This record gives sequence, structure tokens and C-alpha cells, in this order.
Amino acid sequence: SIYSILVLILAYLMGSIPTAVWIGQAFYGIDVREYGSGNAGATNTFRVLGKKAGIPVMLIDILKGWTATNLAYLIGVSTTGSHHSVAFTNYELALGITAVMGHLFPIFAGFRGGKGIASLFGMVLAIHLQAALLCVMVFIVVLLITRYVSLSSIMAGFTYPLGITFIFHTQIKSVVIYGMCICVLILVTHQKNIERLLKGKESKVNLFKSKTA
Ligand code: G3P
Repeated sequence: SIYSILVLILAYLMGSIPTAVWIGQAFYGIDVREYGSGNAGATNTFRVLGKKAGIPVMLIDILKGWTATNLAYLIGVSTTGSHHSVAFTNYELALGITAVMGHLFPIFAGFRGGKGIASLFGMVLAIHLQAALLCVMVFIVVLLITRYVSLSSIMAGFTYPLGITFIFHTQIKSVVIYGMCICVLILVTHQKNIERLLKGKESKVNLFKSKTA
């Protein structure tokens, strides 16, 4: 219906909120896309502006993905009636992905956005809490061992479809298919990171000091 299309547009607009760019510009007078990796995301905000800016960007971006995925439910057009099970409809999954697309190609920031890790996490959090927590654990372990945020994101991305399929035994086909799509999407958005990782040129985060290397 026209109503469900309007809600999809709303999800895109929500995802389009360029948190990293706006917080950088409003509080530091800089566009984070001109520094570091050039990415308009939480990681690069941490890298360029530190945790005082990075943490709010991360939280707001997670919230964007979570809210968009639950949008149908929140405004009362959901067909499932439940938002804390894996009984997600294709429409709800599409809402989440649409918000992630907004984050990648934000209408409010010249269509140059981020890589969607935080907003994808928000989406996964809305779909399957346990799988989301498993992804966080993998992310943290890989980050502690390697100090590469990008590699941690990729590994967490792979954990999601594998986890929902083989650990949590999700029977919902669309959830599995979307999980695999998310994986592919992460590989696409991290192409440059993968190239740098292979060349040994990816930047590492310094987890226990304020400076990044
Ligand atoms: O959050 C995206 C992360 O996986 C990589 O970000 O800035 O290091 O390219 P960045």
C-alpha cells in the first residue's frame, strides 16, 4: 500500500541522518569525511575526534537501525504483532536494510555516508537479540586480538548468518537470506579496508591509550 511505501521512505530518511558529519560539524567544526579513513561513521569519528564524539555517533547510528527495523511495529502497521521474536516479515527486514542504505547514501550529506556497521547492528539487535550479542562478542574478541575495527566488523558480519543458522537454528528463511545479504553488503562497503588489510596498511586502534596509530 501507499502507507507501507511512505514508511519505507521514512526509514530511508531516518538512516540518512548523517550523525558523524553533523556531530563533527556542530561541535568541532570539521567534516570527519576529510580525515582518517574518510568514512562518516562511528569508527572514524572515534579516530578523528575521540570517544566523546564517537560514542554518541555509535549509539545514535545503532538506534537508527533498530528504530527503522521496528518502525512498522512502532507505528502500528506490523503484521506480526511481535518485535522480540524471529517472526520478522520481509517488510520489516526491508525497513532495516532501507535505513542502512540511507546511512550509506544519506540524502542529507551528499550521498556520502558510512559503512553501516552500527546501523546494521541496530537492525540485528531488533531481529535477534542473542545473535546480536554473539556478534558483539566476536567483534570485541577480534578487536582485542587484532586492533582492526574493519576486520572485527567483517568477522561479526559473518557471525550473524552463521549464528542464526547453526547456533540458534532459525527456521525463518527470510531472516537467513537477509543475514547472508548483510554479510555481502559488509564485504562491499569494506573493499578498501580489505585491500589495506591485505597490504598490512590498515590503521589499528589503540585500545588502551587515547591516541590512535
Ligand atoms: O565502522 C566501520 C568500520 O568497520 C571501518 O571504519 O573508518 O576504519 O574504515 P573505517
